[in-house]
Amino acid sequence: MVSALKRAGVTADVLDPVIVPPRSRRRAVLKWNNGKIGFHAAKSHAIVDMRECLVLTPGLFGLVQALRERLAFLKQPAEIHASETLTGFDLAFRSDQKLAPSLTAQLAKAMAGLDVARLVFNNALVLENCAPEVEEGGARVKLPHQAFLQATSQGESFLQARVLEIAGRAGAVLDLFAGCGTFALPLARKARVHAVEQDASALAALAQAAKTKGLKPVTTEVRDLFKLPLTPAELKDFGAAVLDPPRAGCQAQAGMLAKSAVPAIAYVSCDAASFARDAALLTKGGYRIGPVSPIDQFLWSSHIELVGSFVRP
Ligand SMILES: C[S@@+](CC[C@H](N)C(=O)[O-])C[C@H]1O[C@@H](n2cnc3c(N)ncnc32)[C@H](O)[C@@H]1O
Repeated sequence: MVSALKRAGVTADVLDPVIVPPRSRRRAVLKWNNGKIGFHAAKSHAIVDMRECLVLTPGLFGLVQALRERLAFLKQPAEIHASETLTGFDLAFRSDQKLAPSLTAQLAKAMAGLDVARLVFNNALVLENCAPEVEEGGARVKLPHQAFLQATSQGESFLQARVLEIAGRAGAVLDLFAGCGTFALPLARKARVHAVEQDASALAALAQAAKTKGLKPVTTEVRDLFKLPLTPAELKDFGAAVLDPPRAGCQAQAGMLAKSAVPAIAYVSCDAASFARDAALLTKGGYRIGPVSPIDQFLWSSHIELVGSFVRP
């Protein structure tokens, strides 16, 4: 992190990392093949059959043990995207195997008693016992298929607290790359929020959750922020902005913010290099960068989450 900022010519305090506890990862991509289930070995496509895991939540680990036995009917390898939610597991399988009616029946039978909320196979819904739900800022969110979810609830709570410290004093906040409302919903306890994101189903889930009693108004806008970032004229009514882009960062939007008068920005990132590049744009535009907090929520991997603040002096 320090070297990425240095390479981009940005000087900032980088705080000690916040480290999530072991066995806290609530979202994972598992590999299944021929009776083995787990992650790939380093730099290999060999599956390490998972018999012990310090990363996954106990619930997800238990699911893995059950799936090993129950998926024996699969003829082709599969990738299983699994999230643990408040209402059960949300599972999405990807495989070269076609979803014939017999496979649908086998999958549904195999999931019996495993607390599976929803199972999707190659984008086709196989079963939905109930909508997978998470809670954000006291509001229940029904997760759409393939929605983004922070990897650990502990990491997410830290990010939310920091974002609220940076942006929560404004009367109107812009949440860019808002997903299903991880930041918009807790912010709406204090401020009006405009949430922008390219995924229409994520925003529909956020809009539904925003009807929760006690929240200030939340408006949503489906928009590709790489191609069509908000302009300084569109930014002028906001007291703060939250940025949480994918790994590529948000060069175009950071360029527009650099020309804007938005007083405070909370920037959440999962990529130190793109964060540093965008931080350089913001600081060249006159923003002062505050301390940067790394969050180690991808334990025993080189991935890191971080959050930084930018203010107009
Ligand atoms: C790291 S996730 C953050 C989501 C949310 N803030 C959260 O913490 O749950 C990045 C989000 O950016 C959205 N996204 C990716 N590319 C985008 C683009 N070009 N324009 C707008 N949103 C985009 C994704 O759909 C995803 O929801």
